[in-house]
Order: sequence, then C-alpha cells, then structure tokens
Amino acid sequence: MRLAQFIDEQIFYRLPTGVYFFFHFLSLLVLFLRRVVFGGVLRRDKSKSHKEYNDTKQVHDTFDSPYQQNILMGLYKGKLTKMTYRQAREVSLRPLYKMIEDRLKKQKKLKVIEIGCGAGFNLILLHRKFGDRLQLYGMDYAGRRVQRAKEQLGGHANLHTGSITEQTKYGENEFDIVFSSHCLEQIPHYLPCAIREMARITKKDIMLMEPAFSLANPAQKLYLIVSDFVTVMKEVLEESDLKLRSIHPNAVSPNPLNKSGVFILEKA
Ligand SMILES: C[S@@+](CC[C@H](N)C(=O)[O-])C[C@H]1O[C@@H](n2cnc3c(N)ncnc32)[C@H](O)[C@@H]1O
Repeated sequence: MRLAQFIDEQIFYRLPTGVYFFFHFLSLLVLFLRRVVFGGVLRRDKSKSHKEYNDTKQVHDTFDSPYQQNILMGLYKGKLTKMTYRQAREVSLRPLYKMIEDRLKKQKKLKVIEIGCGAGFNLILLHRKFGDRLQLYGMDYAGRRVQRAKEQLGGHANLHTGSITEQTKYGENEFDIVFSSHCLEQIPHYLPCAIREMARITKKDIMLMEPAFSLANPAQKLYLIVSDFVTVMKEVLEESDLKLRSIHPNAVSPNPLNKSGVFILEKA
C-alpha cells in the first residue's frame, strides 16, 4: 500500500467530513504553490493522459471482478461514506436512468451513446437495466479500453475508438441521448470542440456527469485546478449553442475531491 493511500485510509477517512476537506485544502494549496513557484506544468498533457488510460494495468479490470466490490470512501450527499465501486457507479447513474425512463414513456426504443466509455461499465449497467429498449454505442480514445468493453459487452453495444475532440464517424442528429461520465474533465483545452461534436450527433438530449467547479467547496476547487481538470464547464456550456437546462450535484462522488455534477442540456 502506498504511503499516501495508507494516510488517506487510516487517518483522513476517519476524520469528520469538514476536517477531511480542511486538511486536503491545505495539502492541495502547498501543491498548487509549489507548482506555481517552481514553474511546474499545470497543463494536462494529452499524450500522457492517453498513455495512462491505454495502459494494460488500467484495463485489466472487468465489471464483475472482486475489485468492483472493494470498499472506497466516497462522498454521498455531502458526507464521507463507505461504499463499493459498484454502488458508487449505480447511484451516480440514477439521473441518467431517470432521463432514459422519461424518454421511453414517449418512444419505444432509444439510441444512446457514451462518450469516453472506458471499459464499458456504464454501458453494461444500462444494458442490464433496459435490455434491448436501448441501442447502445460507446466511444473512447484508448483503444485497449474499447477492446475491453467489446469483450465484456459482446454484441450488446457498438463500440469505436476515436476522440470526441474531432469529428466522429457518427451522423448529425444520430442519437436520442449523448452522455459522458468523467471524460470531458480530462480535456480542458479541447472542451469547446468536444461540446460541438456532442451537439452535432444528438437529436436533442445531452447529459454530462462531470466535475462542477461552481458547486465545489474550496478543497474540491483546488483539486480540480491542481489536476488540470475542467473548471469552466458551466461557462463553456453557456457560450455554446446548447441550452443548459440544469446543473445539480450528483448524489455520489467516488472521489470526494472530484465533485460530480450533472449537467442537463438540449439542442436549441
Ligand atoms: C475517468 S475515465 C471514465 C470512463 C467511463 N466513462 C466510466 O465512467 O467508467 C475517462 C475516460 O475518458 C476517455 N477519454 C479521455 N479523453 C478522451 C477523448 N478526447 N475522446 C474520447 N475519450 C476520451 C479516457 O480514455 C477514459 O477511458
């Protein structure tokens, strides 16, 4: 176990939620100042990030592996709470389930795509819940993860390798729902391109389950800055051609510092 992980699990997670955030705020402040003072790079390196996600160690995991039942200390409704990876994922998908259920009242089948689908865990849950009422698609720029998703989903989803920052192979207005979960956070410097492409391929609805800087506390804000994750999601969306219908915190954030928000958008 790494020292940082040991300190986190044995000390930080035993503290009350407010104290946890206070300590993290101080340590992130030191990190932030060190980077500013020593001129470290705050910009996320796209190729490094791609390497990390395409790494074999990152893609060995399968949806039904014991790892998914490991306990983590996430944030549930603002409080540090013990949960498994699987529980965290299921709770975090609830807003998407609700959107899909609403649309299925009016339409028998829906064509849904996840941008940055990784190894396909969200798509697996969607398939288990909605069966063939959903025609599922997923895309990710890490080919190995797409391969892993294919192995796990079989013929239940159409999966492709590609970057959402460029024009994809999908047609205009092709999907009923386009969604992402902690993918756009990785591409701060290409965010407007990604939003434009998501807007092009949806008929109407988009859901982003991504960090919400505007809803974050000071420690979470510093975490997003130091990680060079997207901090201007709301502003970029407001400047896009999409209508931002609502932003609210997601009930669960598996990483307490990476505040998950739910952005609901539609094509004007
Ligand atoms: C934190 S993981 C989330 C994976 C999945 N959405 C989930 O919830 O399990 C972020 C994913 O976004 C993908 N990604 C990052 N930048 C991307 C881009 N420009 N186009 C497509 N996928 C991208 C990464 O390869 C990675 O699989």
